[in-house]
Parts: sequence; structure tokens; C-alpha cells
Amino acid sequence: MAYRWKNDLTMADVTPKAAYLNRRQILAGTVGLGAIGLAGRASAQGLEPNTLEEITSYNNFYEFGTGKGDPAANAHKLVTSPWSIKVDGMVDRPGDYALDDLLAGLSVEDRLYRFRCVEAWSMVIPWNGIELADILNKVGVQSGARYVAFETVVQPENMIGVQRRVLDFPYVEGLRIDEAMHPLTIMATGIYDEPIYNQNGAPIRLVVPWKYGFKSIKSIVRITLQEDEPPTSWNKANPREYGFYSNVNPNVDHPRWSQATERRIGGGLFAARQDTLMFNGYPEVASLYEGMDLTRFY
Ligand code: MTE
Repeated sequence: MAYRWKNDLTMADVTPKAAYLNRRQILAGTVGLGAIGLAGRASAQGLEPNTLEEITSYNNFYEFGTGKGDPAANAHKLVTSPWSIKVDGMVDRPGDYALDDLLAGLSVEDRLYRFRCVEAWSMVIPWNGIELADILNKVGVQSGARYVAFETVVQPENMIGVQRRVLDFPYVEGLRIDEAMHPLTIMATGIYDEPIYNQNGAPIRLVVPWKYGFKSIKSIVRITLQEDEPPTSWNKANPREYGFYSNVNPNVDHPRWSQATERRIGGGLFAARQDTLMFNGYPEVASLYEGMDLTRFY
């Protein structure tokens, strides 16, 4: 693909790693002036990243329980090595790929993305990942393929949420092919230049920053190219509340709460809620949905 998406802020612009971890000290003014300047620049752009601690301790990963702290407490049981991904359906080179083989030769990019959960909380996360388009081009998408389906690993003996059947597992998700090929869509393998933690979906998870977080399926073991729209976990669980598209949209409320604003994790108890942005602040995807009624295709 000729065009590669460029961040509005690169990691080089952001606070060095040691300072990230001391962000509270920075904000409290207890570390050096240089660091304060950098932190100020990042927050002026509204993209001050959450700390590693926040990103790895407040999670949704129902295979490991429904509480926000459950994944951090339980996901050490996830076995991530060896890891292979089955690529099947309408592709030229289907197969069971060892993760390293599937990613060999593809470039890992730094992406500082807003992340907006359908539950109306949000974070800013510095991912490291591979554009999904690069992976799909490597396996060769056939012309009839209109959708991509994804599946999460099931390790019943290690997953308390699977044992308790809190959702119909395996967790499944899907994208339209043009969404999957968009340069914003990545398969994340790291956060803050560290291998992605189990609770965040090790060893590889989808990140689609303009959609609600539940589209960003974790710990992927299968990618299928197909003609028909695939079933998705939350749509199966509650079709009235969760559609296939699930684009972040402040004008379309969830049946049980408003989506107009969001609570930024780490903002503190008294921080004002922030306005939620159309497509989560990624207007470059609007052309994918031209002519679609986004209140009907929610
Ligand atoms: N993937 C799987 N397999 N299981 C899940 O329960 N939760 C989703 C998504 N991917 C989920 C999943 C939801 S609701 C959100 S908001 C994000 O993961 C949370 O990602 P994070 O914990 O890395 O912030």
C-alpha cells in the first residue's frame, strides 16, 4: 500500500519512558522542568498516554472474569507460547502459521491511539503493532472476500470466565474488508515497547481505534476471509445494544447510557468528562461509511 498513516504525534514527541511512569510526579511538579515541558506538549494535543499501570490493571477480558481487575489477576494463566494463527477462507496462502512466521518481514509501527470503550471510559495507549493490511497482503486476500472474521483462543482450564460461561466463547469479532485494510487498523504485539501483557491480549490482538473497544479482539488464533458478515460476540449476546459496526459515535446513544461524553481513566475522581469525538477523533475513516445511515448501522 502506498499510503501509510502518520500519527499526529509520534513517540519521539512524547515524554521519555521513565517520565511516563512518573507522570503523577510530573503533574505534581516534583520532577525536572524538562519533563514538565514534554508532558505539557503531549497533553496540549489531548494525547497524553495513560500509564502502563493503568493500561494493564483496568481491563475487559471476559475469559478471565468480568471485573476490571480480574484479567490482571488471572491472565498469567494464559499460555502464549508456542502460538499459531490459523488463516483460512478466501486467501491464496491459507495455513496454520507460527506467529513469528506470519509476522516475519513486516514492520512494527508505533501508534499512539485513543481507545474508547462502549462503557464510556477511555484511555490513550502507545501500541506497537503491525498494520493488519500488511498481514492480509502477505497471505493474499482473494477478490470475493468481503469480511474478515477473528477468533480468540480458548484455554478452558486456564480461563475462569470460560468455565463460568460468562459469554459464548470463543470470543469472535469481524471487520468489513475495507475497514480491515485501513492503515489505522493494527494487530498489536506491544505496549510501551514491551511485549503486550496477557491481560491486554497477548501475544497479538486487534486494535481498531475508531470503533468501540470490544471490536479490538484479544489473543487471536484464527483469521478467516469470507464473503458473509461474520457473527460477533457482543452482537450475539445482545443485538439490540451492540451492532456489527460499532463505530464510536457521540450522537448514537447506547440504549442504557449516553455516548456523548467519556471518563478518561487516570484523570482523577473530579476530572471533567470529555466530549466523545465522532469516529473517536479519526475523521479519515468517514469515507468508508459514505451513504450509510450510521444510526441504523450502529
Ligand atoms: N477480547 C476478548 N477475547 N475478550 C474480551 O472480553 N473485551 C473487549 C476487547 N477485546 C474482550 C476482548 C472490550 S469490551 C474492550 S473495552 C477491550 O478488549 C479492552 O481492552 P484492554 O483491556 O486492553 O483495555
